[in-house]
Amino acid sequence: MPKGCETRTYLVTGGAGFIGSNFIHHILDSRENVTVVNIDTLTYAGNLDNLRDIETDERYFFRRIDIRDRQAVEGVFREFNPDYVVNFAAESHVDRSINDPFVFASTNIGGTVNVLTCALMAWGANAIQSGKRFLQISTDEVYGSLELNSNNLFNEETPISPRSPYSASKASADVMVKAFYETYKLPVLITRCSNNYGSFQFPEKLIPLCIARAVAHEEIPVYGTGENIRDWLHVSDHCRAIDLVLENGTISQIYNIGGNNEVCNLSLVKKIIALCEEITGDSSINERLITFVEDRKGHDLRYGICADKIRSELGWCPQVSFDHGLANTVSWYINNQEWVQRIRTGEYQHSIKSSTDQMNRV
Ligand SMILES: NC(=O)c1ccc[n+]([C@@H]2O[C@H](COP(=O)([O-])OP(=O)(O)OC[C@H]3O[C@@H](n4cnc5c(N)ncnc54)[C@H](O)[C@@H]3O)[C@@H](O)[C@H]2O)c1
Repeated sequence: MPKGCETRTYLVTGGAGFIGSNFIHHILDSRENVTVVNIDTLTYAGNLDNLRDIETDERYFFRRIDIRDRQAVEGVFREFNPDYVVNFAAESHVDRSINDPFVFASTNIGGTVNVLTCALMAWGANAIQSGKRFLQISTDEVYGSLELNSNNLFNEETPISPRSPYSASKASADVMVKAFYETYKLPVLITRCSNNYGSFQFPEKLIPLCIARAVAHEEIPVYGTGENIRDWLHVSDHCRAIDLVLENGTISQIYNIGGNNEVCNLSLVKKIIALCEEITGDSSINERLITFVEDRKGHDLRYGICADKIRSELGWCPQVSFDHGLANTVSWYINNQEWVQRIRTGEYQHSIKSSTDQMNRV
């Protein structure tokens, strides 16, 4: 059936977060006959403002559910009988994992096992034949850290070697996902993506934090000497890759996703400052705002992804150049100051109750 005609039901977990909300927009924009069910417990990182424009879309349903809640997740499987599960829900901030590892283990491992179990019980023995698919959204951080001055890259055969509580919890979840395939033949797939950037990212993460601080003329903290390298990918390219893996990926396989776009943190921060100055015309936004702070504990030096497998098997490649994507992203945050302010003041969480009442429609 050509794209746009299928009638599939997607169960998206963590859809009120950064990548999940971009993915929901991507699916609703690219298809007509779909149902998207978003389950999200709305932690500090869950923001229904990200989904305002589609909250009355007849194809979209929201349930405020914790992925660790067996009864509630079972209920969603019974109610919607999803074809695809895309598991974004997670605690996602490395710094927070250093301060409070337990919640990372609980949600990222326990929550994933709970959703896997519910899928297994709902889909039964014929899950593969009936076209069901469970996609685990993982991260390049499970591979550990590369040397700064090398051309080495992570590929899908690289052994996992996580170094932070966050990446350890994601790696553990990946191992569980694989075990559900080996043991029960649950049709699973795993994607491991590099650092994402784009609209709707919670402003604790480097790029939106830097933009918010720059436009407010506040100090911009940079860990250590800023030499750590990350491979950046625009979130829209990640969403297209997830879509392709769901449709055409081979069950039980891992697909790395990366932008082939390695930048050190200090260069990135300088680029953002220059863009903020250019877009606002405010010359007091300058590199003097940069403040070097004590390095993150166990800070991984470099991530670099080899995305050859998804390129050759599924024909995916990034479409958004870093310069273009970063300039658009900086403009988005500057033009959406209300979105940023509602997070900074905590107001985005005050509206949760009324919004969920309205969106929990049957
Ligand atoms: N951001 C990146 O650069 C990146 C890169 C690779 C992989 N990932 C992975 O992608 C996924 C999404 O990342 P993100 O940046 O959008 O994260 P995010 O922190 O912006 O969003 C996470 C969402 O999950 C929800 N959530 C948390 N705990 C939950 C629970 N127990 N039950 C239900 N919902 C819960 C939150 O409310 C939030 O809406 C994560 O699994 C992350 O590990 C992120």
